Order: sequence, then C-alpha cells, then structure tokens
Amino acid sequence: MAYETIIVDVEDHIALVKLNRPDAMNALNAELMSELAHALADAQANEKVRCIVITGSEKAFAAGADIKMMSDKSFVDVFAGDLFTPEADQIMRVRKPIIAAVSGYALGGGCELAMMCDFIICSDTAKFGQPEINLGVVAGIGGTQRLTRLVGKSKAMDMNLTGRFMDAEEAERSGLVSRVVPCKKLMEETMGAAAKIAEKSMISVMVVKEAVNRSYETTLREGLLFERRVFHSLFATEDQKEGMSAFMEKRAAQFRDK
Ligand code: HXC
Repeated sequence: MAYETIIVDVEDHIALVKLNRPDAMNALNAELMSELAHALADAQANEKVRCIVITGSEKAFAAGADIKMMSDKSFVDVFAGDLFTPEADQIMRVRKPIIAAVSGYALGGGCELAMMCDFIICSDTAKFGQPEINLGVVAGIGGTQRLTRLVGKSKAMDMNLTGRFMDAEEAERSGLVSRVVPCKKLMEETMGAAAKIAEKSMISVMVVKEAVNRSYETTLREGLLFERRVFHSLFATEDQKEGMSAFMEKRAAQFRDK
C-alpha cells in the first residue's frame, strides 16, 4: 500500500517503517498515526515479517504531536475524538517485536511512540523530552506513565515538569534506551538486532514480549507464575526440541515456528 507520511520496506523478514514528514520534523498528525497503525497491523499479519523497526530521520525521530493540527482543538474535539488513543491501542496490540531506532529529537508524542516500542536503540545525537508543559498541556500517550516506569519518578517528574531534554548518554544511564551507537551506525546496529530476533522461534519471541510486558501489569508473584507456565508450555513446541538438539549437536538451530 502507498503511504503519504511513512515509508515501509519489508526485506529479510524485517519490516522497516520510516516516519516521513521531513518539513515538520516527523510531527505526528492524524494521517501519520493512522498510516502507522495500518502498516503495523499489516506487518503483524504478514507471515514474512518477524521483527519491526520504526525510525525517523537523522534529525528527528518525531518532534511530537503536530502542534499546528492541535492548536485550535477544543476539549470536546480531543475528548470525543480521543486523540491518538485508538492508534496507540493498535500499536500496543502488535505481538511481533518492535524496535525504535531513534536519532535526533524524540519529543512529546515522539518520545511516547518510541516508548510504545519494545526497546529503543538510539544514536549519540538523540534527544528525548516531554516538553508538553511548555504548550500548556501535559503528555497524552504515555509520557507520564511509561517514562515513570522506565526511568523512575524523579527523572520522569523532572522531564515532565521542566520540559528539559535528555541526551543519549543520560537516556542509556537511566534505562530509557537499551543501546547508544554512533549516529552513522544506528540503522546497521538496529537492523542487526532485528535480524538476530528474526532468527529465533517466533513462538518464543512473542512469548518473551508477552511476558516482559506482563511485568508492568501485575504483581511479581503473578508475573513469575505467568513466566513459569509459558516456560513449561514451550516444551510442547517442536522448536524447543530443535533448539536443544541443535545445542547438543553443536549446530545452528533451524526454527520452524512450530
Ligand atoms: C508541528 C513542528 C513540530 C511539532 C517541529 N515542527 N516540531 N510542527 N508540530 N511538534 C516544525 C516547525 O514548526 C518547523 O516548521 C519545522 O518543523 C522545523 O522546526 P524548527 O523549530 O524550525 O527547528 P529547530 O529550531 O531545529 O527546533 C527543533 C525542535 C522544535 C526543538 C524539535 O521544533 C520544537 O521544540 N518542536 C516542538 C516540540 C514539542 O513541543 N513537542 C510536543 C508536542 S505536544 P516551519 O514550517 O515553521 O518551518 C505532544 C502531545 C502528545 O506531542 C500527546 C498526543 C495525544
């Protein structure tokens, strides 16, 4: 499908989704969010796709929700329209792993979109922030919630109250991102991580995603029980037999997602 605000490329089992509104620093408008949700649903449905990468440009992953689009809206507009909630819900329903490759600005909704992904790899030029307070509003799709879980209350308060940006080094130190790489290496490193994931059994991959995400929603005792049961259940798969046989036979496993 042809999109206006994103570019999608599926190759070697990886769906690469590039946000593409260069004149607006990839600001998230209704069209972009709708196209993104559509592309991710497609990637979920496409049997060839085993991992998804979302990226922006070198200058900006995304500088937030489109302020020009929002500026005239009323309470009723955003409440009744539930701005970006259905799209965010759709993104959260994707069961395949999603990596955010962030270079430059990831602000407001851009930072929130990156945090909706399963993990973030960023370039040494990345800048994260929740500057909505400067616009007389607050974060609306996870900036006070996901950021707090990722970096703790103190930094989340600081970011949301002052609107300051966090650089790549601080983002890694705080646990917001999993790796920082030189800007020129961002896509190579991220596609490498996606390729590693694509080699695994999709069943285990989807179970990992479910189990780690479960840790946000439940108590430790319930989470550990969930993990133990999914661990047990994977012994019903052919991929478990193949993975363990391959180890003992000192060869690479050939997973078949069965
Ligand atoms: C619309 C945006 C934009 C945005 C940048 N642009 N961010 N347009 N919405 N969020 C546009 C600018 O208007 C400008 O277009 C062009 O992109 C380049 O931006 P500049 O400001 O000229 O570039 P620079 O000086 O390098 O500054 C970059 C920046 C700054 C630091 C990223 O643009 C900025 O502060 N942007 C806003 C960041 C922000 O407040 N985000 C939170 C949004 S609220 P023109 O045509 O004027 O040249 C949000 C809520 C989410 O995200 C919740 C939703 C439910």
